[in-house]
Amino acid sequence: MPASVAALIASRPALRAHAHDGLTFEGMPLAAIAAAHGTPCWVYGAGTIRRRYRRLGAAMQGVDIHYAVKANDHLAILSLLAAEGAGADVVSGGELFRAIAAGVTPSKIVFSGVGKTETEMVAALDAGIAQFNIESAEELRDLSALAASRGAVAPIALRVNPDVDAGTHEKIATGRAGDKFGIPAQQIEALYAEAARSPGIRPVGLAVHIGSQIMGVSAFAAAYRKLADLVHILRAQNLPVEAVDCGGGLGIPYGDEPGIVPEAWAACLLGAFAGLGLRLAIEPGRWLVGPAGLLLASVIRTKREGIDRPIVILDAAMNDLARPAMYGAWHGIIPVAASALAAPCEIADIAGPICETADIFGRAREIAPLGRNAVVAILDSGAYGAVMSSTYNARPLAPQILIDGAAPAQEIRARQPVANLWYAELLPGDAGR
Ligand code: LLP
Repeated sequence: MPASVAALIASRPALRAHAHDGLTFEGMPLAAIAAAHGTPCWVYGAGTIRRRYRRLGAAMQGVDIHYAVKANDHLAILSLLAAEGAGADVVSGGELFRAIAAGVTPSKIVFSGVGKTETEMVAALDAGIAQFNIESAEELRDLSALAASRGAVAPIALRVNPDVDAGTHEKIATGRAGDKFGIPAQQIEALYAEAARSPGIRPVGLAVHIGSQIMGVSAFAAAYRKLADLVHILRAQNLPVEAVDCGGGLGIPYGDEPGIVPEAWAACLLGAFAGLGLRLAIEPGRWLVGPAGLLLASVIRTKREGIDRPIVILDAAMNDLARPAMYGAWHGIIPVAASALAAPCEIADIAGPICETADIFGRAREIAPLGRNAVVAILDSGAYGAVMSSTYNARPLAPQILIDGAAPAQEIRARQPVANLWYAELLPGDAGR
């Protein structure tokens, strides 16, 4: 993974090292954004999202794209993707309402997740979503009872657990036997037949999602082969199968490694289901928005005494971007000032200020010496960045900024006011509000 600052910039079309303006993102000097909005702050590039959506759409001819809202659920991002024609994959009532609020048509929304509550199911039925991806027999029966009692018919797909190891990080693999997701392939035939007999249920097909940050096609191919086999088995029983939802998971390079291209994923997917006359869909999240976002942070101070290498302390922390602390994820870290981009590097650890040993963004990084207030960009933070933020250590949520062409960068979420951290808290004896 380790990659030099120059290699990280060279492999990201949205980034440029400008001799005067320093690091720019979609043509916008990041130093100016940090000066105007303060740090930490998230910066997203609309052009990058649109370009990636169109490339994926072109590769996936005829395949419906249901953007996985969990990757970045900001209304501006959702509405931008909706305007491109995307549907949505949601995993909670909150995500359902966000997607609808952002203008995603309910008939393009699928609802995934192992723990849909009755309230969430009712909301999705009332909204008239396209499909529920069902994760267990009990869920199927609960939805059947609810839909029938409301005189509704719920279109469902059964999510298959294909017992395939996606070869990704342990904490984001979802398709192995024993993972909590999906229904074992051996049980699909009986459950699909039950679904076809169940009141309030219309089975439309199968779904699968084997994990995230997948960097090769072989695991996808193995999973899709199992699903194609199941389609044949179900049809042999005269059970109607119209659609297969192929999930998300397409990975991105966090360093300067080549990565997996969407065309390769598309070839594998379209090949696996060719000739079956199915409506196909995917649920990509990270690949669309990950490289379209970064986190700007400033140096608070640097610790140098009595340690092997300096520890640069930033004003961003694991409460903002949890991925390094949570999964040991590697994110490129690049200085923003032109002088720092041209300067010789030292080796430093880069940390946040939170009182947790895990609050480290990078160890032994090659980076120019960073003085007080120097701004850095933590790359590829557009997916699973702001959505996973917390207010741990009573740190307010950071603002979010959208760059869209030559228009001035727009603050699409303000920094959370500090008093907002305890706005719903009551002292014992308080009467309420
Ligand atoms: N569909 C389902 C049912 C999912 O559970 C997920 C992600 C996706 C689609 C989208 O997967 P993607 O295309 O983004 O890989 N927080 C972790 C990633 C968790 C992914 C959870 N499910 C991280 O920061 O790496």
